[in-house]
Formats: sequence, C-alpha cells, structure tokens
Amino acid sequence: MGEFKTVRELYEVVTTGSNLEKESLSVIEIQGWVRTNRFNGAIGFIELNDGTYFKNVQVVYDSKLPGYETVAKFTSGYALSIVGKIRFTPEAKQPFEVVVQEFVVEGSCDGEYPLQKKRHGFEFLREIAHLRPRTNTFSAVFRVRSVLSMAIHEFFQSQGFVYVHAPIITGNDAEGAGESFLVTTRQDGKYEEDFFGKKACLTVSGQLNAEAYALAFRDTYTFGPTFRAENSNTVRHAAEFWMIEPEIAFADLEDDMDLAEDMVKFCINYVLENCPAEMEFFDTMIEKGIIARLQALVSQDFARLTYTRAIEILEQALKDGVQFDNKKIFWGMDLQSEHERYVCEKYVGGPVFLINYPKEIKAFYMRLNEDNKTVAACDLLVPGIGEIIGGSQREERYDNLVKRMNEMHIPTKGLEWYLELRKYGGVKHAGFGLGLERMLMYITGMQNIRDVIPFPRTPKNLLF
Ligand code: 4AD
Ligand code: MG
Repeated sequence: MGEFKTVRELYEVVTTGSNLEKESLSVIEIQGWVRTNRFNGAIGFIELNDGTYFKNVQVVYDSKLPGYETVAKFTSGYALSIVGKIRFTPEAKQPFEVVVQEFVVEGSCDGEYPLQKKRHGFEFLREIAHLRPRTNTFSAVFRVRSVLSMAIHEFFQSQGFVYVHAPIITGNDAEGAGESFLVTTRQDGKYEEDFFGKKACLTVSGQLNAEAYALAFRDTYTFGPTFRAENSNTVRHAAEFWMIEPEIAFADLEDDMDLAEDMVKFCINYVLENCPAEMEFFDTMIEKGIIARLQALVSQDFARLTYTRAIEILEQALKDGVQFDNKKIFWGMDLQSEHERYVCEKYVGGPVFLINYPKEIKAFYMRLNEDNKTVAACDLLVPGIGEIIGGSQREERYDNLVKRMNEMHIPTKGLEWYLELRKYGGVKHAGFGLGLERMLMYITGMQNIRDVIPFPRTPKNLLF
C-alpha cells in the first residue's frame, strides 16, 4: 500500500517542493471521484477529483493492468481508491500523473447520473443543488466562499475585533422594514400564548445587538445568517443570506468607511493569494479579465460622493439623454439599481461610497446630520453589482433617537435596552453590513445570488 496523499498535497510538492521532496513521492494512494474516463483499447485516462483541490489528477492505466476492463467501465461519479506510481510530466498540461497499480471501488455511480461531461446551464444545476458542488464552477465558488469567510475573520481578528454571535431569533425588526419571518409554534397568531409570550421573528440584522457589545469591547463584528421576507425576485436578493456587521465605538462615518474599504481590499487580496486556481478559472470561464479588475481595485482609492451630488449627476445624465426606466429624478427619492449603477459604473467608473442620504429613506438608528435633513449613512456601490455594503454612524443622542423612532412609528417598547445604551456611557459609534453573497458575486463574477449560496432560499423556492 502506498502512502495516502491528497491531490492538493501532490500538486504542492510537484509544483513547489524541493527535488528531495519530489523524489520521495513514488507509490501513493489517492481517493476521489471520476470526472471523466476514456479508454482507447490500449491505454486509458481518468480525470479524478478528490475534493481537496480545484484541479483533477490524471490517472493512467493500460491493458496490462489486471482488471483493466472493469476500470474502463467506470463512468463519471464513481468513487475510487487508487494505489499508483507518480510519474512527472513537466512537458504536459498537468505536471504529473498517477499510473494505476491497484484500485478499489468505494462507491459506484449507477442510474441516470445527471452530471454528464457536457456543460450544464446554471438554471439546471440549481435544481440539483445537492450535486452541483461536484462541477468545476461550483467547486470554485464554494471554496472561494470558504476562503473569503476566513479572510473576513482574519481581517477583524488580526486587529483585535471581538466576534459577537448575535441572536437569530429576535423580538426586533432592526431595519424597521417589516420584512421579517415569524417564529411561532402556534397556528392562531396568539403571540401572548406563544413560546416566547410575544411576537418573535428571525433576525434581519444583528446590528442592534452588536451595538451593545461595541459599547463594551469597542471593536466588534458579527458574521451570521440573516433573513428577509423581501418579495423581490432579483439576482441579488435571497431570503436567507450571510451578513458581516462590524460595529466600532469612538468612531464616526469616516472611520466606518475607512474600515469598510480596508476590509474589502484585504479580502480580495486574500482570495487572490489563496485561491489562484479558482480565480484563474473565473477569469477564463466566468468573467474575462476579472483578476486584473480586482487587482486594479485594491490599488485605487474608493470614491466618496454625497447623495445630493448623486442626484445632480443623475439629473445631468437625464438632460444628456441617458435613458432610465425611472424617468423622475428628484432629491428625496430612493435610488433604484439603475441609478446606482449609472453613478458607479458610468460616472465614477469604480467603487463609490454614497453618503448622507435623506433621513426619510433610511433606518431610524442613523445619526441625523447638522442640516436636519440627511443622515450619516454610507452605501458602498461596486460596478456590476450595485450595493454590497450599507452602513452608518449611529444616533447616539438619546432625545434625537426617541424623536426619530416616534416620527418613523418604531415602537420604543421592546427596545428600551437599545435606548439605555445611549444613557449609560453611550459614545459616538458606527458600523456597516456587508452581504457575503454580494461580495462573493463581485469576486467570482457569478451573476446570480442563487449560484453563490449552497442551498439558496428565494421566493417560492425551498428545495433541499
Ligand atoms: O443595507 P442593509 O439593509 O443594512 C443593514 O442591515 C444594517 N443593519 C447594516 C449595519 O449597519 N450593521 O444590508 C446590508 C447588506 C447590503 O448592502 C447587502 O449587501 C446585503 O446586506 N443584503 C442582502 N444580500 C442578499 N439578499 C438580501 N435580501 C439582502 N439584503 C441586504
Ligand atoms: Mg442597504
């Protein structure tokens, strides 16, 4: 029996190892799944993927192998253990191959296996979300998702931020948008008699809880699932998505944007460095030139524009004959995706923070500016996607906060604890929320949020 190796280890030794390390590789054991298998009567090639690495390993056998007729029949999806000899092939497309000496079938793959060699459409693959991680695209997407999550922790942890687990079941609707899913054990809606004795829902944001922790630890972040019953069936909205919400004390809107910009750049660099094979795949198969675009992004300053300026830009665009579906541009309007994209892609030509939005179109907790009309909000827009981050400086002045809640019909009952944070050592503080899936779409070039979540939840869709 040869020594067990993962395909990742083999590639590492073969491409970056010393001569001594390479020579020590002779007979090894690998395990994995057949992607393709072709046999021409004399010699056969299996593309085997063991899950540890994006790339396959080429497994070679010939008609001298005892049982080669059986091997020749292994179709796509078969799970195998293989003992074989490493053969270096520096002149070939793959730097080495494994010549089979022994094999064991660990799992057969019978019936109409849906993943055949031809390229499948993403829509079809969504219907087999339990099998799609076996394809190149989804193998790349979900490893990058994992590495990106690590990058986020690394970024915050290395600066001493405390990771806070905000509750998933909650009594508040942090955004006040009325888009929460109920959590109940009753059919009759009698919340007083329900499990918690009151109305409960799945969290739309951990922010309010994070604020409590920021006022103890100074620098904190949450990273967890959030839920929104938005009935918007778009390529950028999911009912269940993951959000990262840093919350920092003794900090204002500028500090908040600096943090967001640093985080985005750190994460992109981290993925480029740690997922070269996957990024190369996205660059050739999903979005041509994406690596160069990401590299350009990390070396440029993100623009910062006020909402008021954005409205002027849009008014000018309208005068210049730019066609928007939504033809009325006026101060106070909520920007639609087409407007955000115009400002970001056409006017700025790169990432841009839009700041200081009218208070009427933003959440109750945002800090009122001196003009009494706008709040200290910041949205980060990126080309191709639009908003990936929404943040703000928080209203730390007790009276202002209560006034805002009253104006916006947000009940203070149940949020007394949140108001208390303003009385007991409350300081200026700020934070933002990054949608993990939006960031992942931006990094990979994937166009639909359904293709960057393992098992997506969207309106009228709860498979798996
Ligand atoms: O702008 P949002 O609603 O901000 C908040 O929830 C604040 N509490 C954040 C904070 O200040 N702590 O959401 C933040 C981000 C959006 O920019 C977007 O990237 C993502 O979360 N997001 C969604 N992603 C996928 N599907 C949805 N339905 C999303 N809604 C928001
Ligand atoms: Mg937002």
